[in-house]
Amino acid sequence: MWAFAGLLLTSALFVGKVIADRCPQICICDGIRRHVMCLNKNLSEVPISIPQVTQKLDLRGNEIKVIPAGTFLPIPYLTHLNLQKCKVGSVDEGAFRGLGRLVYLNLASNNIAFIYQEALDGLSSLQQLILENNRIEEIKPGAFGQLGFLSFLNLARNSLVYLPDMVFQGLQLIKWINLSHNTIHVIANEAFGGLPTLRRLSLDHNELQFLPTEALSKLSGTNRLELGHNPITYIGEEALEMASLKQLFLDNMALQDVSHTAFVRSPLLHTIDFHNNQLFLLQPLREMAHLKKINLTGNPVLCTCYMRPFKEWAEKARIHIDVACAGPVAFRGQQLESLRTIDMKCKRKGYEEELLATLPVQTRELEEDAPKCPQGCTCSPDFHHANCEGRQMQSIPKGFPSNTQLLDLRHNEFHSIPKISFPGLKNLTSLHLQNCKIAVLQPGAFQNLKNLVYLYLSNNSITSIDADVFEGNTQLAYLYLDHNGFIQMPKGAFSLLPSLFSLHLQHNSISQLSDRDLEGTGNLCWLYLTGNHITHVSVRAFRDAQMLEKLHLDENFLQEVPTRSLRELPNLIELKLSKNPIKNIGDGAFFPIARSLQHLYLDNMGLEKVSSGAFTGLGPKIKSLYLEKNKMHSLPTLHRFTALEVINLREIPFHCDCKLLPLHKWLEKLNLRVGATCGSPADVRGQKVKLRTTFQTCPTWSTKKVKRTSSAKAKVKKHSNKKRWSGNVQGKRSKKSKA
Ligand SMILES: *[C@@H]1O[C@H](CO)[C@@H](O)[C@H](O)[C@H]1NC(C)=O
Ligand SMILES: *[C@@H]1O[C@H](CO)[C@@H](O)[C@H](O)[C@H]1NC(C)=O
Ligand SMILES: *[C@@H]1O[C@H](CO)[C@@H](O)[C@H](O)[C@H]1NC(C)=O
Ligand SMILES: *[C@@H]1O[C@H](CO)[C@@H](O)[C@H](O)[C@H]1NC(C)=O
Ligand SMILES: *[C@@H]1O[C@H](CO)[C@@H](O)[C@H](O)[C@H]1NC(C)=O
Repeated sequence: MWAFAGLLLTSALFVGKVIADRCPQICICDGIRRHVMCLNKNLSEVPISIPQVTQKLDLRGNEIKVIPAGTFLPIPYLTHLNLQKCKVGSVDEGAFRGLGRLVYLNLASNNIAFIYQEALDGLSSLQQLILENNRIEEIKPGAFGQLGFLSFLNLARNSLVYLPDMVFQGLQLIKWINLSHNTIHVIANEAFGGLPTLRRLSLDHNELQFLPTEALSKLSGTNRLELGHNPITYIGEEALEMASLKQLFLDNMALQDVSHTAFVRSPLLHTIDFHNNQLFLLQPLREMAHLKKINLTGNPVLCTCYMRPFKEWAEKARIHIDVACAGPVAFRGQQLESLRTIDMKCKRKGYEEELLATLPVQTRELEEDAPKCPQGCTCSPDFHHANCEGRQMQSIPKGFPSNTQLLDLRHNEFHSIPKISFPGLKNLTSLHLQNCKIAVLQPGAFQNLKNLVYLYLSNNSITSIDADVFEGNTQLAYLYLDHNGFIQMPKGAFSLLPSLFSLHLQHNSISQLSDRDLEGTGNLCWLYLTGNHITHVSVRAFRDAQMLEKLHLDENFLQEVPTRSLRELPNLIELKLSKNPIKNIGDGAFFPIARSLQHLYLDNMGLEKVSSGAFTGLGPKIKSLYLEKNKMHSLPTLHRFTALEVINLREIPFHCDCKLLPLHKWLEKLNLRVGATCGSPADVRGQKVKLRTTFQTCPTWSTKKVKRTSSAKAKVKKHSNKKRWSGNVQGKRSKKSKA
């Protein structure tokens, strides 16, 4: 032991000398601390002569555009690596291999757009990963799967739009994830699954329009949540279900109302920060035993009788409220806490009138520095929102503040959207035109909307779209055309939309998908065609949409699985074919997508037969399989489906004779609720396929026993089983043919 320590000491001294000797000329080496710095040196690759024993390597400000596999193999003792501002665009598979001691990796301010799982291979001790300020648009579930020791992940200032299910899977010790300053709009319900140790989540400065209640409810250990600067207007009943949450930041949003039961399912809340919202009034928040602080500064709170219950509640519960009253005039600027409750009066008018009486003061104050807003609309300059919902407008109003980001024009009667209807709205990201009786979109209708990401045209009467309608909308990613009058795909309409990610065309009357119908959708990931009249999908229909991950073809008129068309979809993860009149599924029906498919919906189809090779190729990748409400009597063997999380076999009339034994045995071992019951024969109708008693008349051999017995014995046994078994089957068959 002592000898060993001595050896370490001498080798350390020796090594110090070696470092000094071998330091690359343009770097600075600190041999004692095993620290090498090569800052701002225009290096295009990691210098090869860095001393092997180096622990900290600082390469900030170079031009290392690509990090090839095995780059760091010569310096395996690294614990800290800084590659900030190196113009890194791609991190090859295995780039960091060999860095099993690395605890800190900084890749901030580079040009990274995708993170491939293999790129982070080998970083088995990593604790901090900083990817701030890159161009990451998408993270695939499992990308961080190897980082079991990571405690801090910084993804702030990227271009993330949505977070898919299980995206952070594998981060078993993660404490804090920073997702600030992205454009996150959608969070899948299971996105935060598998993060029991997460204490803090930063989601501020994103594009969330609603609290992602379900997704957040998975974070049972999180005690601090930052959600400020998202365009959320309302927090509904029981909207937040986070068992350990103590500090909640909801500042700088567009909040106009908060339900009094909003937080009852987050009983440990201690602090809520609402500063800079649009709240006039708050109700006492129910059942909040631990609440100590509410910050309402920067809200136009009216200290009238309607605020009394809130103030009394806060006083009684000793909750500190920070807010200065915005009205009535007599109290303007005074702290709510400094007022006496009995002085907070309402004139003898209704609440609405009271508000109205005070409102002009508000708007007058705002008007001085606020930009214009079209008549009949309301504009909130601080939040860059404009709202003209349901005003029976016949034409698109003009004159919105030029920095408007969200424009809500739902429920009007525009009939047609003329060319350049939205001049000067360069920063508009979200445009709502649902329910506006629109039949025609004229060429250039959305011209100049360079930053438009979300366009909602649901529930109108559009039947076709000319190729030049979307001229200039290069950022458009989410396009909603559902509930319109299309009888065919709006061919060519997408060729000017290079960023199109999600296309909603459900509930139209499209009757087929032909070649080139999807021209220009090279980046499309989600395609929704539920509830159309599709009878035919041409073999090349998806040729132009090879990135598709999600395809919903449910509620159409397909009579068979469009297997040959699926060949063009190498990335398909989810396929929905529910409610199509498909009677048979033949061999290899899903073979072309077997390598990527994870979720398959085949329910409610009137299926009569699933052939024995129907699922060929499918297996351990499949996570969910929906087969409920069909008419077949049996299923081919499913034992290759080893990773199922959901399987639904309800309301299938299984014929529970001994032929179904393999399915029974498989279900017996499966630890999932499947709901499979027998439809026949009559004596077992309604019984669970999973139950042993259902099959008690069948030979009850156990495969283990067969293996253990000598082959001769086994033969005899098998033989006699066969006899009993076939007798049984015949019996059932004759019954069936009678029926
Ligand atoms: C880096 O390279 C650029 C052009 O290649 C050059 O202009 C600049 O002077 C270089 N900087 C250093 C520090 O060598
Ligand atoms: C997360 O990252 C952002 C962007 O860099 C930074 O401003 C913020 O401070 C970080 N969040 C927290 C809570 O530190
Ligand atoms: C409330 O928020 C405002 C604005 O950020 C801040 O100045 C103030 O100190 C906060 N009050 C409390 C009690 O934290
Ligand atoms: C649009 O947004 C950018 C970035 O936030 C800002 O610099 C610019 O001033 C905005 N444009 C208008 C017209 O407000
Ligand atoms: C669609 O519009 C019709 C009439 O304009 C309305 O009755 C219906 O509720 C709307 N549907 C949806 C889903 O908004």
